[in-house]
Parts: sequence; structure tokens; C-alpha cells
Amino acid sequence: MEIVIVETQQQAGELVAEAVVALVERKANPVLGVATGSSPGAVYRELGRRVAQGRLSLKDTQAFMLDEYVGLPADHPQRYRTVIDREFVQPTDIDPANVHGPDGSAQEIEQACADYERAITNAGGIDLQILGIGTDGHIAFNEPGSSLGSRTRLKTLTRQTREDNARFFDDDVASVPKHCLTQGVATIMEARHVVLLAFGQSKVEAIHHMVEGSVSAMWPATALQFHPHVTVVLDESAASRLQ
Ligand code: F6R
Repeated sequence: MEIVIVETQQQAGELVAEAVVALVERKANPVLGVATGSSPGAVYRELGRRVAQGRLSLKDTQAFMLDEYVGLPADHPQRYRTVIDREFVQPTDIDPANVHGPDGSAQEIEQACADYERAITNAGGIDLQILGIGTDGHIAFNEPGSSLGSRTRLKTLTRQTREDNARFFDDDVASVPKHCLTQGVATIMEARHVVLLAFGQSKVEAIHHMVEGSVSAMWPATALQFHPHVTVVLDESAASRLQ
């Protein structure tokens, strides 16, 4: 695990954008994994800036989302597909048809999850996965207790995660969906390069466990200790309990 400590989120954005540029230059049909939430915001803004300046094109790139809430209507501003459209698709030149996510409104959930796994495989697998981490150590929505061998499936969000995400729902926990479809830990582990971003004091404990703790399903991010190519980008606060 490579740990990089930056002073600002903008620096993190530039660093990860560089990795995306290098991937796009090296590979004809690159595949990105994209996270929602606050942590990757600076990355998407920087990608948008580079596309606007003509220094990067994502026209031939495919992207796969990590997760999606179950039960939010298609026009809900916090539906993850809507968030990704707003924060990643619109500022860049990626073709929206090349952006995929688990179908949170599917009637046949198991089928939808299997289809999603197959779509990732058919695209050739994820080259670079942009990841955040929950205060409870979740990656994607693999909450504590998730099997480290899990694949895309239906999960129940913990009270902690729903409280953490209430800020996107007018601070009303009751409005945060209780369920989601999420890539599994094993799905994420198949990405060739994982770049995890974490900022702020609230992530201190999760980062400490992920980097220095014992591997355990109770801290799902610890599975990344087994991954051969992980880059962790932190600010001083999130890194403050690392030895
Ligand atoms: C989002 C996701 C989550 C978030 C995590 C951190 O697609 O999969 O794991 O990355 O909850 O969220 P932020 O970045 O908002 O602190």
C-alpha cells in the first residue's frame, strides 16, 4: 500500500487526474471505476478542467459506478447515477452511454447484480478504481460484516452510514435509503489499480484500521492489504493516527 499525504484536496485531485491521464495515454479503451460522495469531488473537477483545456479526452473510456441506492426515483438529485452525471459526466467528455451503474430499480435484483458483474468483465475489468472510505471502514457500500469474498449484491446500510450521508438529504436521516446495490469486496479487489481518497478527522479510525489493523470483515477496507496496487491519498487529518 502506497500512502501519499497531500496538503489540499486540490492536490489530491491533480495527483489522481495524472494517473487517469497516464492510463488513457497507455490504453486504447480504458475502464475507470468511479465513486460518489465528497471524497472524489476534486478528482472529477480536475478531470473536467483538463478536458476543457484539451489536455485529456475520456471519449473512449468506460466507467463503472460502485453502488446505487435502492428505491430512489430516477429524477432524485441524490440517486448515484444522477450524482455521477452531474459531477463526473457533465464536466468531462465521457459518453454517458459508457457510464454504467448497478440498477437500483431492478425488479430482479439478483439478475441485475449478476448482469453488472458480467458487464464489468466484458469491458475487460476495471483499470483504475477511484474509491472513498466510510467512517465505519466500508468501501463501496460493503458495510462492517461484509464477506471479503462478496460480489455485487443487495446490502442494508448501517445507521452510521445513513447518518453520515444525511448531509446529502437535508440532514434528514429518515430520507436516506436503507438499501443499496453495491459491488462486493471481491469485485473491487479485481481492479488493477485502486486509488482510495480520504480527508478529514472523521476518517482517522477507518484509515488506521485499513492500513495498520488486522484484516477483518468488520473493517472491510482492510481487504485492500491483500491488493498488489493500492494508492491511498490522505490529508494530514485523515493520516494523523498512522504510525
Ligand atoms: C460512494 C461509496 C462510499 C463512499 C464513502 C465515503 O459511491 O461507495 O463508499 O465512498 O461513504 O463517502 P464520502 O466521500 O462522502 O466521505
